[in-house]
Amino acid sequence: MALALDPAAQDLLFREAHTANTFTDEPVTEEQIQAVYDLVKFAPTAFNQSPLRVTLVRSPEARERLVAQMAEGNRPKTSSAPLTAILSVDLDFHERLPELFPHAPHIKDAFFSEAAPREAAGTFNATLQAGYFVLGVRAAGLAAGPMTGYDADGVNKEFFGDGKQKVLMVVNIGKPGEGAYSPRSPRLSYEDAVTTV
Ligand SMILES: Cc1cc2nc3c(=O)[nH]c(=O)nc-3n(C[C@H](O)[C@H](O)[C@H](O)COP(=O)(O)O)c2cc1C
Repeated sequence: MALALDPAAQDLLFREAHTANTFTDEPVTEEQIQAVYDLVKFAPTAFNQSPLRVTLVRSPEARERLVAQMAEGNRPKTSSAPLTAILSVDLDFHERLPELFPHAPHIKDAFFSEAAPREAAGTFNATLQAGYFVLGVRAAGLAAGPMTGYDADGVNKEFFGDGKQKVLMVVNIGKPGEGAYSPRSPRLSYEDAVTTV
C-alpha cells in the first residue's frame, strides 16, 4: 500500500525480475530498444548531463570482437544473446550541455572544462543511467544480463578507438532461455542498509 506503482509492475521490474544467463532466439528489435531508451532518458542526471551512450552490437563481426574481450565465463552468454548493448560514458558529454541545460549554459565551462573531474562526473552519472537502462529493459518485458567481466581496455580499443567513450557495462538482452536464472541470493534487510539520523 505504501507503493504507488501497480503490483504487477513491481513484480516485472523487481520481485520477479532476474539477471538472465541464457536467452531464447527471439530477436530484440530496434523499436523495443528505442522504447526502452525513450522511457529511461527521463530519469535524472546531474545538470541533466545525460552522459550514457548505448552501442547495439548486432553484426556477427562486431559480436565476435566483443566476445573476444569478455571473461571466459561470460563468453557463451554474449555469444548466444539475441542482442548485446555496450553501455559507455561519453567523455565529451559537456559539449551537449548548453542544449540539455539551456537555462544555465555557463555550467559547461564552469564545471566541466577539465578532463579529470569531467570523467568522474560523467562516469558517475552514466552509471546511474546504466541502472535505469536495466530497469527499462525489464519494463519492455525482456531480461537483462548486465556484466562487467571483460577487458575494459580491450573493449575501449575495439569499439571506442578515438578515446572519447569508455565502457561501463555490457548488457545481454532478450527473452530468458532455459535455466536462465540462478536462485535468488539474499538481499540486505532494510535494517542492515538504512539508517535514520
Ligand atoms: C554491474 C554488474 C556487473 C555484473 N557482472 C557480471 C559478470 O561479469 N558476469 C556474470 O555472470 N554476472 C554478472 N552480473 C550479474 C550479477 O551477479 C547479478 O545481477 C546479481 O547476482 C543479482 O542476480 P539476480 O538478478 O538473479 O537476483 C553483474 C551484475 C551487475 C549489476
